[in-house]
Amino acid sequence: MTETAFWHPFANMADVTRSRLTITEASGNYVYDDSGRQYLDATASLWYANVGHGRKEIAEAIGAQAGKLAAYSTFADMTNEPAELLAAKVAARSPMPGSKVFFVSGGGDAIDTAAKLARRYFHELGHPERQILVSRQDSYHGTHGFGTSLAGMPANRAGYGDLINSVAQIERDNPEDLAALAENIGGEHIAAVFVEPVIGAGGVHLPPPGYIERIREICTSIGALLVIDSVICGFGRLGEWFGPERFGVVPDMISFAKGITSGYVPLGGVVVSREISAPFFEGKGAAFRHGPTYAGHPLACAAGLANLEIMEREDLIPRGRTLEGTLAEALNSTLDSPIISEVRAGLGLLGAIEVEAEVLRERPATLGRIQMAMRERGVLVRPLLSSIAVSPPLTVTEAEIERISSAFADSLKQVAAES
Ligand SMILES: Cc1ncc(COP(=O)(O)O)c(C=O)c1O
Repeated sequence: MTETAFWHPFANMADVTRSRLTITEASGNYVYDDSGRQYLDATASLWYANVGHGRKEIAEAIGAQAGKLAAYSTFADMTNEPAELLAAKVAARSPMPGSKVFFVSGGGDAIDTAAKLARRYFHELGHPERQILVSRQDSYHGTHGFGTSLAGMPANRAGYGDLINSVAQIERDNPEDLAALAENIGGEHIAAVFVEPVIGAGGVHLPPPGYIERIREICTSIGALLVIDSVICGFGRLGEWFGPERFGVVPDMISFAKGITSGYVPLGGVVVSREISAPFFEGKGAAFRHGPTYAGHPLACAAGLANLEIMEREDLIPRGRTLEGTLAEALNSTLDSPIISEVRAGLGLLGAIEVEAEVLRERPATLGRIQMAMRERGVLVRPLLSSIAVSPPLTVTEAEIERISSAFADSLKQVAAES
């Protein structure tokens, strides 16, 4: 057993300490462990290394900014150049004209910001009774207070005692369940509905055709805000800047993180429509008494600016769409294996292969075995509930996607034979 003081997130440390993978270097679509072994990063780390690893340009932008102004508060009337520039760029690329951008430190922060702002907006409008926040079964919105309360994965809510009041859950794929909820509790009590365009950490679930559009319609008809959680789906993952553009839907807020800097420095935020920002920006305004210490951190924003420059220069954003068919085809080939029951892919550069329920019942270690078999073949993938997920960098090549597919073919053969 390896002793460590480092408590890993989402881990049973009693298991982890027996086997750990130390990543020491990364470059392009590859990472290297402490013995120098190379792995294809088929998950873009945790769904975020959208431009790939080791981009000198981003490192240099961070270094240059650190030499000039490493950090300073943006509370009240203070600001800095990278935050101003990045907010303007993000707002200009969002589907909401005249939007504002509230920067935070990551996706969980972004969700707490959107949740508090939804309630606060209605409070400003004289409707404090609009408090209910709605999420979907199987959704994942991070691990902060509101995100934990909204979690559509029961295991992520369990054991923490009383969570935030006035949250409700709807079925994952049936938008009419939102209409029914509004009918039951009164639509005038619903402040906001949180929707991932493609559910990520909850197992990679694509929305049924027309789902997002119908949710928008219902939100509009009951006067609730639509918050699109694009923490995973933004910055090219769905082939667009944010994701909702794929459905022609204009939300009221968009939460983002991960791909905004490709993970080089932690950064998240919320794009807020002009209408929702108006009570705070216009007339006599109102203070939103919210925001983490590092909101608009100059190093994070400098990394974001360099990252967006790469995305635009190399035309990476559309790749989430142009490669979605290739990835889906590669994953569909795993259906030849008797231990794979379903493939979920085809919308954006992400997907999952589902392991047969009976196999998992009889051999619960199967997911870990597949992960390790893939590792032995030099490919990093991620177990997710009862499936294995992939979401490579936008810079992945077709040949590398083919390599993921052939590594799966060999790994699944090996694991199936181990029974
Ligand atoms: C859709 C979604 N929302 C929110 C979060 C939370 O982001 P963070 O881990 O940066 O707090 C995640 C993280 O994976 C996510 O996938």
